[in-house]
Amino acid sequence: MPIHIDSDQGIELAVIGGTGVYALGQLADVDSWWQETPYGMPSGPIRIGTLDGHRVAFLARHGEGHSVPPHRINYRANLVALQMAGARRVLALNTVGGITADCGPRALVCPDQLIDYTWGRIGTFSEEAGSEVVHVDFGDPYTASLRAAALAAAHRANVHMVDGGCYGATQGPRLETRAEIARMRRDGCDLVGMTGMPEAALARELGLDYACIGIVANWAAGAGPDVDAVIGMEEVLANVAAATEGVARVLRGMLVG
Ligand code: HPA
Repeated sequence: MPIHIDSDQGIELAVIGGTGVYALGQLADVDSWWQETPYGMPSGPIRIGTLDGHRVAFLARHGEGHSVPPHRINYRANLVALQMAGARRVLALNTVGGITADCGPRALVCPDQLIDYTWGRIGTFSEEAGSEVVHVDFGDPYTASLRAAALAAAHRANVHMVDGGCYGATQGPRLETRAEIARMRRDGCDLVGMTGMPEAALARELGLDYACIGIVANWAAGAGPDVDAVIGMEEVLANVAAATEGVARVLRGMLVG
């Protein structure tokens, strides 16, 4: 049932969960808010609760039952709904495949760059006829201060998180061919995922602070020690579940210090 959110109360941190992260178990006193935005409905309800007294919002990017594929996600509605709830800082959790040596399964990576290989997704709020066209600066796609906060919290919590790397956003929902991953490696990508864009660019248009933690679920096709390995969903979910324990400690550290 929709509830009224007093956005003046503010949200210290909004978290968008990806594949395998459908809730934040640490949240207490959770209220749920499911409201239409001018861009349509978000993927699911926004769960607003407290973590050690700090107000946090959570949204499952694919819906809580993982029913929305990457290319059909209403990225605009998701971000605007979080903003309407009072969020100014958005930490995106993205399940990814690892391409380069430091980015093996269960690694946590805080990328500082991205390359967009997606197509046909609505990537701007300037889409509607008559809306003002904006060309936001996107040289550094992630907000430096939010990245620094996540990395510092990881350090304090004794969680290893790789500082920097390039996220390659692919269209999905299929995984990539070995040739595609080989090309992405040549392009300089360390991670591959399907949901990093247009989310990052839309967050920038909205003026939200935005950073990503890539949760490595598997070696990307042809990467890693077994180049012939076939990627299975069971392996993906087991690795995400294992790595998410570290993410929870990072989140607490970002809020509590
Ligand atoms: N490729 C793209 N997206 C992904 C992968 C992958 O190998 N693993 C998890 N998300």
